[in-house]
Amino acid sequence: MRSRLLAVLAIAAPLLVPMGASAQPGDVGGSIVAGPGGATLGYASKVTVEPQGTPLTFYNLDELAHTVTAVDRGPDGRPLFNGNALPESTSTIAGVDKLRAGSYTFFCSFHPNMSGTLIVQGGSGGVGPTAPKFEQPLRIPPTLTGSRITLTAQQADVPILAHRPPTTMLTYSGSWPGPTIRRPVGQRTTVTVVNKLPDAFGSLSLHLHGDHHSSADDGRPDADLVAPGAQRAYDFPLTDGGKPERAAFSFYHDHRMDLTGRNNWYGLQGMFITDDPAEKKLRLPEGRYDLPLLVADRSFDDASQLTDPFPKASDPNTVTSPVNGPYAPPGDATVGTHTLVNGVFQPYQVVATHRYRLRLLNASGFSSYDFQLSDGRPMVQVGNGSGLLTKPVSRTDVLLGPAERADVIVDFGHDLGKRVVLQSVARVDGRPAGIGTPTTPVMQFRVTSRVSDSTAVPAALMPLPPLAIPATPTQTWAFGLAPDAGRKGTAWTINGKPYDDMRVDATVELGSVQRWLLINTSPLTHFIHLHEEAWRTVTRNGQPPPAWEAGYQDTWRLDPGDTVEVAARITDHLGPFLIHCHMLDHEDHGMMATFAVVKPGSLLPAPTHHQDLSGLPLSVIASAAVCRREETL
Ligand code: C2O
Ligand code: CU
Ligand code: CU
Repeated sequence: MRSRLLAVLAIAAPLLVPMGASAQPGDVGGSIVAGPGGATLGYASKVTVEPQGTPLTFYNLDELAHTVTAVDRGPDGRPLFNGNALPESTSTIAGVDKLRAGSYTFFCSFHPNMSGTLIVQGGSGGVGPTAPKFEQPLRIPPTLTGSRITLTAQQADVPILAHRPPTTMLTYSGSWPGPTIRRPVGQRTTVTVVNKLPDAFGSLSLHLHGDHHSSADDGRPDADLVAPGAQRAYDFPLTDGGKPERAAFSFYHDHRMDLTGRNNWYGLQGMFITDDPAEKKLRLPEGRYDLPLLVADRSFDDASQLTDPFPKASDPNTVTSPVNGPYAPPGDATVGTHTLVNGVFQPYQVVATHRYRLRLLNASGFSSYDFQLSDGRPMVQVGNGSGLLTKPVSRTDVLLGPAERADVIVDFGHDLGKRVVLQSVARVDGRPAGIGTPTTPVMQFRVTSRVSDSTAVPAALMPLPPLAIPATPTQTWAFGLAPDAGRKGTAWTINGKPYDDMRVDATVELGSVQRWLLINTSPLTHFIHLHEEAWRTVTRNGQPPPAWEAGYQDTWRLDPGDTVEVAARITDHLGPFLIHCHMLDHEDHGMMATFAVVKPGSLLPAPTHHQDLSGLPLSVIASAAVCRREETL
């Protein structure tokens, strides 16, 4: 490895002299280079000039994998050129030798903050960019509204790409996204998951993200599982402290130990909306003017089947988290070439001259998006997934990482005949070390009919109930990257440790109010999700949070070095719950921990491993119901 790297360095070294944007056509570069620290510094070669018809080499001298991915797409919908180089290796960027003369922007799909320009010089001929066609209508998943719902996990063929065969997915009840569940707050709902997947996929677990319910109904990664051929009923009372929960835009998804990334990639995810009759008075758009949009990326092979970027294990229930090799932290990033909405590539939706409530969910495993409308018009954000904000906030871009949601109002009232594209743009706030976002069209709205509109966006939405928040943090959670001593490799960690389902990392008393400090001590952005309670944001980097974070929330972006403080009252349910990064590769590769809710007076020393429970009073162990692993299917 060492001698090969030196050889690569010798070839690439002259190119490390920055060519700058002033590079003249005629300065033949012939290669693209990512140097050490590329994920924060960007490509070492910003502009590369290439004679038409010649292959282009990508030298990756960094310890992380990077890609060279064209922003423009070809006639088949794929990036015009795309090359992926593992750490300290080289690759040929497929598609470059076919390009038409011109200037092309490219980025790293794992670190979209890295971008560069390729200038192809030559005469006529060659393949150029194809404008997005938006030729397929948006899919609206089936909606289920009953108090007893069955979701059958089954393989099914899902139409995704235009003019291409359907894609075989793991689905809930045959559709991806799974059926949208829509229920009134405060009304008990039972969701039964029947596992009819081939045995090879192993056991499943269903987590209702953003909801408050018992530990046994939380879809724990390694307990209370749904074995192949079996079924399990999950009980969601949709209440908190005996009162109806706040209405929310939640989603449900598989949460299986080590396999959450894989199982979500293959389709085990769907939306869950709760409605509060009290919100009716606000006159926000509803019915056909309320569009839940699950945005997620995937990659496809030539037969339009999903690529399989996940490490393999012969036994589906063994640990597959890599701690060594190119896909070990921090190189683990599952990113797709196609951004899909409700499972359709670049769909369109016919709309009327009316306000619309767009509920945006980023259900990607790793990618973030900075959403914008193509004509730059503002979106009025009224909620963030965990419920309505106290007041609306007008934004021209909305940055959403994995599992983050935004509830925005867009007014097409004066747009008859217009077409407006929802797109992702390069991250607008430009935090240099923060993860970037791809530049890509997402979907198109076609304003085709005139209607009258009696909806409104009131100046005040939902007040936040008072909460006596402790003056200082009651618990600190640090998100890092550290050696995994036991398995001799590297893992994502929380408070220095990779996840262990047999360890409780902190206990909190039922009825207490917690103030938790979240700190990112690692060199990459994370999106941290807290299960169970109605958390609210207290500070972001020591300041009051921005308006769109000043409500309930369950997932927070932490760029490197960021701190966020959150608070919640611990209500109703004893037992273990999770805190983890929602970049699913990170979650599967260690960045997850357990907090257990215990009876007042039963705090355990933290962390506590199950072996250490033997000396403790039975009441403590029983009330915590900690550390229960199912060893078998
Ligand atoms: Cu959306 Cu613990 O997950
Ligand atoms: Cu990269
Ligand atoms: Cu992460």
